[in-house]
Amino acid sequence: MISIRPFNDREDQRMLEIERLCPQGDEKCAMGVDKKDMIARYEMYDNWDVLVAEKDGKVAGWIGLTIKITPEQKGKYAYITEVMVDPAFQRAGIATKLIKEAEKKAQEMDVDYAYCYIYEPNKASQFLFEKIGYSRMRGIKFPVISTYKKLDESSEYSIKSIDREKIGDATGLINEYNSGSVHFMPFTDQTFESRLRFIPGYGPENFWVVRNKENKIAACAGLWDSSELAHLYYAREPTAMKVMKSIFGALSHITKVPEFPAEGEHFKVLYIVDCAFDKRQPNAMLALLRHLNNISIDRRQDFLMAMTDPEDSLLEVMKKLKPQTETWNVFARSFEGDLPNFSPFYVDIRDIIP
Ligand SMILES: CC(C)(COP(=O)(O)OP(=O)(O)OC[C@H]1O[C@@H](n2cnc3c(N)ncnc32)[C@H](O)[C@@H]1OP(=O)(O)O)[C@@H](O)C(=O)NCCC(=O)NCCS
Repeated sequence: MISIRPFNDREDQRMLEIERLCPQGDEKCAMGVDKKDMIARYEMYDNWDVLVAEKDGKVAGWIGLTIKITPEQKGKYAYITEVMVDPAFQRAGIATKLIKEAEKKAQEMDVDYAYCYIYEPNKASQFLFEKIGYSRMRGIKFPVISTYKKLDESSEYSIKSIDREKIGDATGLINEYNSGSVHFMPFTDQTFESRLRFIPGYGPENFWVVRNKENKIAACAGLWDSSELAHLYYAREPTAMKVMKSIFGALSHITKVPEFPAEGEHFKVLYIVDCAFDKRQPNAMLALLRHLNNISIDRRQDFLMAMTDPEDSLLEVMKKLKPQTETWNVFARSFEGDLPNFSPFYVDIRDIIP
């Protein structure tokens, strides 16, 4: 008999244990997540719920969801943050039950639709959500740059940490850059400042603004160190990565080369977030990426990673720094009416803690 009920704090360790047993992917490539605290990530949201499935007195799995308000504030939608089932209890309908129960909770709160991200190699999860009626809406790109060599910084632009007095320049640019993207809620200076301070591992000291010769803002972006909330690692590392690691390992005696984590080793990664630029000045964004590359090296991090819609102009600029790109697909299901158009899609950075 499976029962679904709200989680309680005392179950934190058991839930973390299940998460460690549940890498997301297939036998060739799977991503693992290591957290110290199950709930810390949820505290970034206003409305959230975590439900556990219990079988024979033991926690067998759990699901998390958050409720968000549409940008026009006319409706609500739900984000399914994660669903995990202990391998000893899989293929017994537990995830299906958890999702149905989470959807019921969402519908009680007048939610119009739910969405989730699924890592491309995670076919089990894709089949699960498709069976319940979810459809693939968008393939979100995660370009990753290896930061191992300092890059020359252009003298054409000035790059400085954000000046509180001029925060409006950055919010204006971010709002313009993302206007028309589904789920994007325009910032006010106050909401942006409180976001910078509120998200653990972010903060105004980690947000940079690029100005051109006329002292006009041309680009901006922040760096988010989410390792306080979660560490990522390859539980099963793709073969191509292992090959590169061994080639670069040999070359590392004679030159500077990218570092690739070993299987099971935490990634040292900083996320590029709240990125925006004047599309007539892509070189300003490139100058900022080069600057962030150098900061990543100073902070002894191995990677910079962005999360973008597949048509985001940032991808073109990042290509110059030869990223490796992974895809996480957005799946959604409507409860009421048609789904909105998910193109272009705005990535809420809080959602990318897997
Ligand atoms: C994905 C996951 C949550 C599924 O949990 P589960 O309790 O085994 O799922 P269910 O028993 O409800 O499966 C329902 C359907 O999903 C599909 N499915 C689930 N696991 C599958 C697998 N490994 N391979 C293929 N299809 C699968 C099947 O269609 C299944 O129906 P069936 O058993 O009648 O064929 C579980 O495998 C898991 O925890 N994986 C690791 C963590 C993860 O990837 N979470 C999702 C991303 S947040």
